Amino acid sequence: MLTMPAELPAHGSVRLRPFEARDVDMVRDLATDPYVPLTGTLVADASAEQALDWIDRQYARLADGRGYSFCVADAGDDRALGQAGLSLAVAATGRATAGYGVAPRERGRGVAAQALRALTAFAWSLPVIHRVELYVEPWNVASVRTAERAGYAREGVLLSHQEIGGRRVDMALYATVRAVWAPWGSNPQPTDDTSAQVADVIVGPWAGSSAPAAADEDVAS
Ligand SMILES: CC(C)(COP(=O)(O)OP(=O)(O)OC[C@H]1O[C@@H](n2cnc3c(N)ncnc32)[C@H](O)[C@@H]1OP(=O)(O)O)[C@@H](O)C(=O)NCCC(=O)NCCS
Repeated sequence: MLTMPAELPAHGSVRLRPFEARDVDMVRDLATDPYVPLTGTLVADASAEQALDWIDRQYARLADGRGYSFCVADAGDDRALGQAGLSLAVAATGRATAGYGVAPRERGRGVAAQALRALTAFAWSLPVIHRVELYVEPWNVASVRTAERAGYAREGVLLSHQEIGGRRVDMALYATVRAVWAPWGSNPQPTDDTSAQVADVIVGPWAGSSAPAAADEDVAS
C-alpha cells in the first residue's frame, strides 16, 4: 500500500495532487484525445460516470502498490490540467516508468514538462528508485519535447516494442537517473548539459544528504 506524499510535488506553475471528483470535466476532456484511450484504461469520449470510475482506478493503483497517479493541477487556482503517473511495477530493480497527459484545452504552454520535473523530483524521494524511464512513440513530437525539456536523455529506439491500438509500435526510450539530479538538493533540476553533470557526479563526492540511499527498500509493497 502506497500513500500520497505529505508534501505534494510541484514545479513552476503546476503541482501534483490526488484526483478528486471535481476533476471529472478535465478527465472527460482528456478522453477526447484519440491517443490517450489507447495507452491506458480511460474510455474514449468517457461519460461522467466512466470518468469517475477512472478516477477511482487511480486510487486503486496506490492501494495495490502499482504506483502513483497524480492529478496535474494549476498551482494558482488548483484546477485540473492533466495526469502524471509513476509506475512502480519493477521498482525492485531500481527503475520506475513515468507517463503523462494534458487535457486538450490546457495544452500549448509546457504543462507536461513542468509536471514531469515535479514527478521526477518526487521519484528521488523513493529510496529504491535510481532511474526513471519514459517510452515515447517517435512521431509524438509534443511528448519528445516534453521529455527533453524535463532533462531526459534519449537512449535509443526500441523496435516493435509493444502493441498500441492493435499494431506493433516502436518506442523511443528516454531516461534520467538519480545521479544527474542529486547534486541539486531539495529542489533538484537537471541543467541542459546532463553529460557534464554525470561526469561531475562520478568524479566528485556526493553532495551531502542528496546521496542515493540503499536500494533494498521495497516501496512497491
Ligand atoms: C504530450 C502532451 C502531454 C504535451 O502537452 P503540453 O505540455 O501541453 O505540450 P505543449 O503543447 O506545450 O508542447 C510541448 C512542446 O512540443 C511542441 N509541439 C507540440 N505539438 C507539436 C507538434 N504537433 N509538432 C511539433 N511540435 C509540437 C511544442 O511547440 C512545445 O515545444 P517547445 O518545448 O519547444 O516549446 C500532450 O500533447 C498530450 O497529452 N498528448 C496525448 C497523451 C500523450 O501523448 N502522452 C505522452 C505519452 S508518451
